[in-house]
Amino acid sequence: MIQKNMLRSAMKNNYIVPAFNFANFEILRGILMACEETRSPVILQVSESAMNYFSDGLLFGLIQGVKKTKLPISIHLDHGKTFEVVKRAIKLGFDSVMIDGSILPFDANVKLTKKVVEYAHARKVHVEGEIGVLSVVNDDGEKGKGYVYTSPEEAKEFVRLTGVDSLAVSIGTNHGVNKYTGEPKIRYDILKKIEQAIPNIPIVLHGASLVQPEYVETINANGGRIDKAIGNEKLLKNAYKTHIAKINMDTDFRLAYTAGVREYMTQNPDKFNPRDYGNAGIEKVAECAKFRIINICHSNGKAKNKS
Ligand code: G3H
Ligand code: 13P
Ligand code: ZN
Repeated sequence: MIQKNMLRSAMKNNYIVPAFNFANFEILRGILMACEETRSPVILQVSESAMNYFSDGLLFGLIQGVKKTKLPISIHLDHGKTFEVVKRAIKLGFDSVMIDGSILPFDANVKLTKKVVEYAHARKVHVEGEIGVLSVVNDDGEKGKGYVYTSPEEAKEFVRLTGVDSLAVSIGTNHGVNKYTGEPKIRYDILKKIEQAIPNIPIVLHGASLVQPEYVETINANGGRIDKAIGNEKLLKNAYKTHIAKINMDTDFRLAYTAGVREYMTQNPDKFNPRDYGNAGIEKVAECAKFRIINICHSNGKAKNKS
């Protein structure tokens, strides 16, 4: 199982494997350019809605192409919510799946996750589960009403009952462009307790986009309007020293790509070849990925660990 080896190596050698979502072809291209330049391993993530956007036939071909590159690459289903979507991803050639039963009651989450683990392991596919709930941020509070920090005791029991290979936890991060209404804070104290409870399980951090102001400012200076944007800019600096072995970033690439395209269009109102503005977006995505690989994941140069 390629991802299992990648994550174990990251945990042992103090770095993080970047798990980057690609929402379109251009974002994938920019991410691969950065990984090749920095010699970083990478987990390429596809959500169910991204699968639908690509269509199964084209995605299958894309995955075959990606697997031919020399880099250690894992293709991962992000936030699979049902057994059916897991089966669909495995059929398409994914070597890793996330089954996200985090909003279900504990027993139902265990039941669904265990079923996926049995199916996936029989096909040598890695499984990520989740305990704790990341939710939207309310206007009136620090975290959305549904936000549940991961309980270390539950995490331990969940791993024991399901046999997952890695575990996504909830320690303060959130999905999307606006992650905090109060002071941005990640609960490293909870993470420490989780690490003690499940010392051999690689930890996954969702909602890890930095949301750097420069991309939001470029978008807004070129006709966009993103009012609130608060990310994890300063909070993940030392994450590579912990058991966090995989961090998920999607929003940052959406911002970088949009910034590149919008800026190009403002500066070149006469251009209408999608490859012209697409390339501008690709360049920004590559720069964005490179920064995260070097400064947050410290995974540059680790591609030689391919196993
Ligand atoms: O965590 C969720 C990902 O950002 C996927 O979002 O369903 O819009 O592709 P999506
Ligand atoms: P961001 O919204 O912070 O990029 O998180 C993405 C994610 O967790 C995908 O699973
Ligand atoms: Zn996520």
